[in-house]
Amino acid sequence: MSKSPLKDTLVFEPIQVGDVTLSNRIVYCPTTRFRAAKSPNEIGAHLPSDLMLEYYSQRAQYPGTLLVTEATFVSRGAGGYDGIPAIATEEETKAWKKIVDAVHAKKSFISLQAWFLGRVADARILKKEGQKYVAPSVIYPDGRTKHLSEKAGLPLTELSIPEIHDLIHKDYAIAAKNAMSAGFDFFEIHFAHGYLPDSFLHESSNQRTDKYGGTIENRARFGLELIDHLSTIIPPSKLAIRLSPWAEIQGIYEETSPIPQFSYFLDQLQKRANNGQELGYVSVVEPRVQGVVTADLEDMKGSNQFVEEVWKGITLRAGNYTYDAPEFKQIKEDVSNGRTLVGFSRYFISNPDLVSKLKNDPSSLVKYNRELFYQPYNWGYNTYDGKDYDEDTEKKRVAKPIQRSEVNL
Ligand code: PHB
Repeated sequence: MSKSPLKDTLVFEPIQVGDVTLSNRIVYCPTTRFRAAKSPNEIGAHLPSDLMLEYYSQRAQYPGTLLVTEATFVSRGAGGYDGIPAIATEEETKAWKKIVDAVHAKKSFISLQAWFLGRVADARILKKEGQKYVAPSVIYPDGRTKHLSEKAGLPLTELSIPEIHDLIHKDYAIAAKNAMSAGFDFFEIHFAHGYLPDSFLHESSNQRTDKYGGTIENRARFGLELIDHLSTIIPPSKLAIRLSPWAEIQGIYEETSPIPQFSYFLDQLQKRANNGQELGYVSVVEPRVQGVVTADLEDMKGSNQFVEEVWKGITLRAGNYTYDAPEFKQIKEDVSNGRTLVGFSRYFISNPDLVSKLKNDPSSLVKYNRELFYQPYNWGYNTYDGKDYDEDTEKKRVAKPIQRSEVNL
């Protein structure tokens, strides 16, 4: 049976987001893929690679589509995983610029997702890279991270007020400037899934007794200070955030409803919008997914309906939008307010031409294979149905740094 295409729906009506006009409301949301390359000069593997250049170019093929990059470290201190790209150095920024230029050459748009792992990091890698292991409070997300920290001899420490100031004014600020030099259309702060900014918002991960903890207002303070500072160095219309109000993963849990905390935060963003400082978009993870796991629909705890009641700007909602295929009633209902974008990730991995397929022939969608998501090789990345080795050399294709020649920042 052919699935009903979205061709004649609001999904394919143009929409203005920040300073750009998208041709359609389908967005590629971030997916960790571990294909960054090692820099020749240093420990770690954080350079955007040749495979990534090819990958994002393929997914930009439907003109006017917004892609959000995989989560990208804002600094070395933000890290704690191998194979993740960063945007902290000139070399990394130049490599990203090639990717951005390739996406723009296809007339599509690209947002950089800015990541700081915090307490979720692997302390062994932070140790290897000579970094601290920090969080709002000394609460390990689980036994595994605690064990790794003990093994590394690098205990989790509570961020001091000067350290918080530096995160905002150095780590994130430098990354935001670099993202603008690379030509990104948006700088999206990863504020979800228990990573550092999100871990300030929840009582289960924030037990501070200073002005950054203890009340709804105090738990929101770090995020608002971050957004306010970044708004002084890049236009707020180029800033975005991603929230996951319902995700109880990576040590985050809720004793009570998350709605009061997240409503306050969004209300503060709306107040800034009313004063001419409107963010480009707010992205929210739907309760239908919990990190990398799809929730049972019957077990879903809440709804993101409250988001659009408080936040009046552009919202991007993502999470299992294929559950009601072929009807796609959920997509049609969610975009009906005229200011909502819908995100896909897993199906964008296995369908570089996802947007055209959803438009014309959703029955041709190729199912993804999760086992290939996090592999270092090319199989399941740029060659979903093809080969993972180079025809000429017969060697497996692994990520190599993008040549930085002829890129002027
Ligand atoms: C992951 O790498 O598995 C991952 C990254 C970012 C998220 C969630 C999961 O927000």
